[in-house]
Amino acid sequence: TANAMWGGRFAAGPDAIMTAINASIGFDRRLYAQDIRGSRAHAAMLAAQGIITSSDAEAIREGLLTVLSEIEAGGFPFSEALEDIHMNVEARLKELVGEPAGRLHTGRSRNDQVATDFRLWVRDQCDAAIDGLRALIGAALSQAEAGADWVMPGFTHLQTAQPVTWGHHMMAYVEMFGRDLSRFQDARRRMNESPLGAAALAGTGYPIDRHATAEALGFDAPMANSLDAVSDRDFALEFLSAASICAVHLSRLAEELVIWSSAQFRFVAMSDKWSTGSSIMPQKRNPDAAELIRAKIGRILGATVALFTVMKGLPLAYSKDMQEDKEQVFDAADHLLLALAAMAGMLSDLTADPQRLEQAASAGFSTATDLADWLVREAGLPFRDAHHVTGSLVAMAEARGVDLPELTLDDMQSVHGSITEDVFGVLGVHNSVASRQSYGGTAPDQVRAQIARWKEKL
Ligand code: ARG
Repeated sequence: TANAMWGGRFAAGPDAIMTAINASIGFDRRLYAQDIRGSRAHAAMLAAQGIITSSDAEAIREGLLTVLSEIEAGGFPFSEALEDIHMNVEARLKELVGEPAGRLHTGRSRNDQVATDFRLWVRDQCDAAIDGLRALIGAALSQAEAGADWVMPGFTHLQTAQPVTWGHHMMAYVEMFGRDLSRFQDARRRMNESPLGAAALAGTGYPIDRHATAEALGFDAPMANSLDAVSDRDFALEFLSAASICAVHLSRLAEELVIWSSAQFRFVAMSDKWSTGSSIMPQKRNPDAAELIRAKIGRILGATVALFTVMKGLPLAYSKDMQEDKEQVFDAADHLLLALAAMAGMLSDLTADPQRLEQAASAGFSTATDLADWLVREAGLPFRDAHHVTGSLVAMAEARGVDLPELTLDDMQSVHGSITEDVFGVLGVHNSVASRQSYGGTAPDQVRAQIARWKEKL
């Protein structure tokens, strides 16, 4: 049988496979609340403009609330034959309120309707991501505060480089997650314009008030070009891009937690709440949550690439290709929010071992740079010469299997005559971090200043 919406033009109904490829109700039902909200605003505006009667608008708006509660109660009979959420809602409205339902779609198209619904949905996800990032930043700040002066090895190439503090390392992630947060804020601000009333593509001859619907839906303004309004999905691309960058940050921290919790590092212990055991190896405590967070970038970036690829080369205005936007964004948003929550929980329950961190910080000649800097400062050597002298001392210590502070003054002077007893003062890891007072450096008071700045900012 021909379609109820466009049966006037069609004699026959679609092939079963056509229905299967065409229908989006299987996933876009997630937009029901946004769809109903948009339709209620549209109906109110149509009445205010005298395009439909107030009693019709009332019937529509009340009926839509009934549909909303029916969907929320569960068991709503979503129909594939009705393609998508927009037509499912409207068809049910028709059953409920009869003739006035047919007036709802005046001056509107599914093209601006879906663009509006999806914008509202993605906007909510920006807010959720911002909340998730706030919680995560809070957890990282607590870790930073607890360990503002715990010394640990800083790495480059995953080789011991220079001592840093636990607080400094945690605050590095606070900075990254802070930029992620502002990316979602930026994206939200840019996407917050209303496509509603762009109609199919060209606008409409009805005297609609797009400013009114924009305001009713919490948008800052109506979008200024009706072709653009129904055609672009850059708001979804921005959300996905911000999500991808955030997922990269999550993945790197997750990787560090995996490494740090290994028997070889033992920098941290994960709580029972965030680890799993093994069915065969009784000693195991596996960092599964961290591993899964590390992996989420795979699907999130996958979704991003998928939607970029769908959008490229699409002529204006709407094409059905764009129906493929939703599942990608749904999946990416779900998994990003889950990963943010898991990371915040895991970090809150994480126990670092300050003794073990300090022990590791002292290994691997981590204060060799401090020794070279001492030679520059106290003995007046050019840095390159100081580097060479220190390199020889490291080689000597390495050959003897000792750390730098265990060399004697005689050993030191055999490499360079102007070294004095004084040098031993800079070879300790605490001295090393305390000396790094440059802005943004690892010195505990610098780190504490950054913690205080962030606590104020949150
Ligand atoms: N289900 C469609 C989508 O998600 C709604 C818009 C349909 N518009 C149309 N002209 N077929 O994109």
